[in-house]
Amino acid sequence: MAFSPAFIDELIARNPIEDVVGQYVSLKRAGANMFGLCPFHGEKTASFSVAPDKGIYYCFGCHKGGGVVNFMMEVEGLSYPDAVRALAKRVGLEVPEDEQYQSRYRQQERLWALHKEAARFYHSQLYAPAGKAALEYALGRGMPKSTLINFGIGYAPDTWDSMVKALRAKGYTEEELKESGLVTVSKKNGNLFDRFRDRLMFPIIDVRGNVIGFGGRIMKKDDNAAKYLNSPETMIFNKRKNLFGLNMAKKSKLGYLILVEGYMDAIALHQHGFDCAVASLGTSLTEEHAVLLSKYTEQVVLIYDGDEAGQRAAQRAIPMLEKAGLQVKVLRMKDAKDPDEYLKKFGADKFKVLLEQSSNRVEYQLNAIYRKFDTREDEQRVKFIQEAAQLICTLPSAVQREVYGHRVAEVGKISYDAVKLEVEKAFKRRTNREKKQQEQQDLQPVKNLQPKTRAFYYKNMKSAMAEEAVLAMVMTEPALFDKAGELTEEMFSAPVLGRAFAQLKQRYFQGLEVAPGVLSEFTPEEMSHLVGVTQRHDGPVNEDALTDCIRTIRREHQLGNVNTDDDLLALQNKLKERKGLK
Ligand code: GTP
Ligand code: MN
Repeated sequence: MAFSPAFIDELIARNPIEDVVGQYVSLKRAGANMFGLCPFHGEKTASFSVAPDKGIYYCFGCHKGGGVVNFMMEVEGLSYPDAVRALAKRVGLEVPEDEQYQSRYRQQERLWALHKEAARFYHSQLYAPAGKAALEYALGRGMPKSTLINFGIGYAPDTWDSMVKALRAKGYTEEELKESGLVTVSKKNGNLFDRFRDRLMFPIIDVRGNVIGFGGRIMKKDDNAAKYLNSPETMIFNKRKNLFGLNMAKKSKLGYLILVEGYMDAIALHQHGFDCAVASLGTSLTEEHAVLLSKYTEQVVLIYDGDEAGQRAAQRAIPMLEKAGLQVKVLRMKDAKDPDEYLKKFGADKFKVLLEQSSNRVEYQLNAIYRKFDTREDEQRVKFIQEAAQLICTLPSAVQREVYGHRVAEVGKISYDAVKLEVEKAFKRRTNREKKQQEQQDLQPVKNLQPKTRAFYYKNMKSAMAEEAVLAMVMTEPALFDKAGELTEEMFSAPVLGRAFAQLKQRYFQGLEVAPGVLSEFTPEEMSHLVGVTQRHDGPVNEDALTDCIRTIRREHQLGNVNTDDDLLALQNKLKERKGLK
C-alpha cells in the first residue's frame, strides 16, 4: 500500500473522526471523549468511545478500535484503499492513485466484466439445443421464464472447454481465466478446462450488482459428484461476506429479511412474492453475514430446513444475528423439508400464515427444549422445567420472564410460583458462576494483560508493560518524545509496539502530527490493539513515569529476558498487591 503519508495526513485532517463516526453513531460528549452505542456489536449501554484529539475510536466492550480509515473499513466492509477513496470522496479530495492499486482495481473490473460475460453465456446456453434438458429441469422445478431471466439462471454445457473458448473469444487472457475460478488447469497437460460442466447455473451477485461467482447444480442424481459446486474464492468472491439474493432483497418493501439455506429456497420465495429472501452460499452463517444483514434490516426471519442439521444451524445462527443487533424470528418448517418444497405443496397463502406464526427466538428455543423431553414422565417434566428456567433467567426484561414463565407453567403443568422459584434459582446459579469466573480472572492479572490476539503475545511481560505505557504516554503527550526518543524500535520486546513507536517517533522529529489515528500500515487487529493501549492506559503521563519505563525497557533488552514462570509470579504478586488483593 503506498498512498503518500502527506496525502493520508491531509485526508485525516479533513475527515475529523467525530464527524465521520457521527454519520453512523449518535455520539454524546463526556469530557474529552465522546460516547455512543458500538456499531460493531449489539449493546444497550454506550461503551464505544471517540477521542477527537487523538483521532481514534475504541470500544471498551468488543475492543475494536483505530483511526478514521479503520472505522470506514470496518463499518462499510471496505479494503484499506477503498476506505481511503471513500473518505477522499466525502470531502472532495483527489486521490493520487498508486500504480499497483490502479492495476489491482482494473483487474477487479476485468473480473466483474468477465463474470458478466460468463453469466450471459450460461444463460444463452439454456435456450440452445444443448441446454434442452436443463431448461426442462428448471421449468420442471417450477421456475417460470420470468424467474430464469430475473435470476439470470443458466446452463454450463457438457463439454470440456466451452467457457474457456467463449472467454478467450472475448479477449480475456489465460491469467484472467485462471483468476476467475471458472476454469481449472489440468494437472496432466496444463490445459485449461471448464470448472462447471453440465450444471444448472445460479449467478451470485453482490449488493452493487456485480456478478462475482456461480453456484452450479447437477441435474441427475450422482453419488460421485457434489450436488452443488460453487466458484472458489477469488479476488472478487468471498463466501463469508456475500449472500445470494441480497442484491434484490435489499430493495424489498417488506421490512424484514428472510434467511434460508438454499439457492432454490430463496428463488422460490421471491417467486411467490417474498422478495426479501436471501441464502448463504453453501456455508454456514458467518459474523460477516450477520453484520451485512444488519445494514439492510432490523429483523431477520430464519427459515432453515426442518431436519436436525438445519435446526442445529438455526440455533447457531441466532446468537450471531442478535450480536449484530438484529431481531430474530424463527420459522420451523413442518410437512415439507424446505421452503421451496413447502411453497410448491401448499402455496404462498399458507406460507404467509406460517410466516405470521413464526415465533420469536425465545418461543423457538423453548419449543426446542420442550421437544427434548417426554413431559408425560415426571422426571423428564422436571428436567424440562429446569432447562426452560435456565433459558428464561437470561431474558433481560421482567415482562418477558413473566410471560414465558407462565407459558412453561402451563405446558409443564405446574404452578407459576414454582416456575418463578426455579428461574430465580437458575439466575442465582448463573450470577454466582459469572462472579466466580470474574474472580478467577482478577486473580490472574498477568494473563489479563496479555493481548487478546494470540499473535501479539508478549514474550517479555515486564518490558511489554513498560512499552505499552511509553506508547500511551507519547500518544497522549507527544512532547515526551524529546526524552522517549532515546529508545529505538529494536529495544522493544513486542514487535507491534516497537513498530508503532518507531513510526510515531519519526513523525514527531519531522514535525508531523503524532496521534494514534495517523498510524498507517497496521492491520485492523494491530490498530485495535494499539488504540486499546492508549485508551486503557490509566497511569500517570509525565517525565518521571516515562524515565522509569525507559529504564525497564533498556534493562530487559540488555538482559534479553523472556517470560519465565518466576517473572510472571513476581509480576502477578506485585499487581495483586497494587490491587489490594494481598
Ligand atoms: P435442491 O435440492 O436443489 O432443492 O437444493 P436445496 O437447497 O434444497 O439443497 P440442500 O438443502 O441439500 O442444500 C442447501 C444449500 O447447501 C444449497 O443451496 C447449497 O448452497 C449448499 N449445498 C448443498 N449441497 C452441496 C454440495 O454438495 N456442495 C456444496 N459446496 N454446497 C452444497
Ligand atoms: Mn430444496
